[in-house]
Amino acid sequence: MKSYNKLLAAGAMSVLSMSAFAGSETPEGKVQATYPPISSDAYEKFGGEYGVARWTEALFKYIMADNRINHIFAAHGKIDRQIALNKQLVSVMLGAPGVEYQGASMSAAHEEMKITLTQFNAVVEDAYLACEDVRTPYHTCNQLIAALAPFKRSIVTR
Ligand code: HEM
Repeated sequence: MKSYNKLLAAGAMSVLSMSAFAGSETPEGKVQATYPPISSDAYEKFGGEYGVARWTEALFKYIMADNRINHIFAAHGKIDRQIALNKQLVSVMLGAPGVEYQGASMSAAHEEMKITLTQFNAVVEDAYLACEDVRTPYHTCNQLIAALAPFKRSIVTR
């Protein structure tokens, strides 16, 4: 079985420099699905609504256990709201039919925090760990991470 841990560093770095699956926002700050789109069966391969729910909950389990970043999340609180909005966002990125992201734009949500690239990469690592935890197919996990990675431009401000 492939080990996510072994591939983590190389995977995170190469994914962060990819632009083929660009997570993006409209000029008004509305999050839109990736273009070009990730494979049409990505949402299904991810396990649909149930898979996204399990993955997002696993992600926050790792984030809240991650001493590099958990203090930032704890300080803002509202973790249930964040989990719910991240489920929506991930569903949209994976091409889930009929799901709309109802939260703030990535730039608006994060601008006050002065997030560093190191902190951003910590979330990417935790996202890979969540994939391993819930056994998301490796290729589908990479597609999601690649789709989320370009949000770095909106999230990292320090
Ligand atoms: C690809 C990476 C990331 C994604 C997809 C993401 C996604 C989100 C989403 C969907 C929200 C909810 C927005 C809303 O409340 O309307 C949010 C809020 C938040 N994010 Fe992120 N985020 C990312 C990276 C980070 C990083 C690196 C940090 C800090 C280390 C962070 C800290 C927070 C905090 C503390 C909030 C809550 C803000 C508040 O309640 O005022 N995020 N994020």
